[in-house]
Amino acid sequence: MRVTVIGAGYVGLVTAACFADVGNSVVCVERDPARIDSLRKAQVPFHEPGLSELVARNAAAGRMRFVPEVAQGLGDAQVCFIAVGTPPLPTGQADMGQVREAAAQIGRAVSGPLVVVQKSTAPVGTVAMVQQIIDREMAARGVQHWVRVVSNPEFLKEGSAIDDFMRGDRIVLGSRDERAVTLMRQLYRPFNRNHEKIMVMDAPSSELTKYAANAMLATRISFMNELARLAEAVGADIEQVRLGIGVDQRIGSHFLYAGAGYGGSCFPKDVKALAFMAREAGLHAQLAEAVDAVNQRQKQRLFEKIAAHFAADGLKGRTFAVWGLAFKPNTDDLRDAPSIDLVEALLGAGARVRAFDPVAMDAARRLWPARQGLELVASAAEALDGADALVVVTEWLAFRSPDFDELARRLKARVVFDGRNLWDPASVRAAGLVYHGIGRGAADLKSD
Ligand SMILES: NC(=O)c1ccc[n+]([C@@H]2O[C@H](COP(=O)([O-])OP(=O)(O)OC[C@H]3O[C@@H](n4cnc5c(N)ncnc54)[C@H](O)[C@@H]3O)[C@@H](O)[C@H]2O)c1
Repeated sequence: MRVTVIGAGYVGLVTAACFADVGNSVVCVERDPARIDSLRKAQVPFHEPGLSELVARNAAAGRMRFVPEVAQGLGDAQVCFIAVGTPPLPTGQADMGQVREAAAQIGRAVSGPLVVVQKSTAPVGTVAMVQQIIDREMAARGVQHWVRVVSNPEFLKEGSAIDDFMRGDRIVLGSRDERAVTLMRQLYRPFNRNHEKIMVMDAPSSELTKYAANAMLATRISFMNELARLAEAVGADIEQVRLGIGVDQRIGSHFLYAGAGYGGSCFPKDVKALAFMAREAGLHAQLAEAVDAVNQRQKQRLFEKIAAHFAADGLKGRTFAVWGLAFKPNTDDLRDAPSIDLVEALLGAGARVRAFDPVAMDAARRLWPARQGLELVASAAEALDGADALVVVTEWLAFRSPDFDELARRLKARVVFDGRNLWDPASVRAAGLVYHGIGRGAADLKSD
């Protein structure tokens, strides 16, 4: 099939590359000149495991090409995906500017029958809005083509995006138009072989499904973070509690980790957008608002623990090694990452920070081009040079089993803050270190 994808970010580029890989002819439209330059050299401008190889292979085979404008990229496409950003406005509302613009560009360029697939995460009513914009633009040109907008939210996770796309749990299609749905079924057939994954529903239900999924996952995390505080207060260990509830099949063991708070480009903004959507509908999404509030507070938690530990003589002049900057492992995405709150809080308190992340160093240099007090270093070991304490913020595999004896030798204050509960407190203490985790009340009490 002939497919156009507008937006070559994490979602658009993965969508484009996966459809190209099963034999479709795909044009990627990307307006960012730096992104388009690197894509034309088959270089992926961000870190996503396996994506560079997939893009290089399909570009070399002529199944993927890159253009800067919708007018050049739409041609005689049968399907056009909108995979542009929907960042949050200060009110929490999703900023629909990029989606509106993409819709208008489609309406101005479309020259035949087309299914437009709204893949960006966007509030209920967006499919209808995109349809209206396209119809209006066609009317202004005096043309009439069969164009139908279908909702198709994306559930991939950064870090395992290709596998999630190719072998996802479900493919949700929001449309009641039979012709459009038939075409979409045909397009997704290669990813729907093992068992039926396609769910067809009305567009509003499809749009809300995406927010419901992210809000549910974020709720589990905030719930565990709230329980972690209680565990600290009453002398329980949240890791034991997690195992104790996770085996219950009604609960399940995923997304039950207490930590430094959730981040990334999706959960924070989608929970806020859900709450905004509710307000617009005259409702109060109490739970979503609480989930967001708990998370905001949790992002301060590591700093609070550090400040409390060093309360006697303060943080001024101290140096902290920070391991992990990306909002989660296997990505270089720093959007809304808890590391940002921590680094800024430490610097604000007059401390120095030596930070390392296995893949997010370029992204960190772009975020903090020259931040006084912050050194972005080349390895986890180098981060320890002259450090008083170590703080782990991202649960990269490489940080899971460090040499605690070496940490004890190198850290001046011999203390570690485990923001992801990666380590066994007893093993850390056996090396002569003070251990602070998240919600490890019983474990923390032993060290006091
Ligand atoms: N990142 C994720 O893990 C993820 C997962 C599921 C859903 N989503 C949703 O998918 C959408 C895209 O997310 P992302 O992380 O890929 O965003 P992104 O910001 O990384 O990428 C969007 C890209 O679209 C480009 N763009 C915007 N308007 C354009 C236009 N008119 N023409 C050409 N290019 C245009 C931008 O330059 C940018 O490169 C968002 O709504 C997001 O919430 C993201």
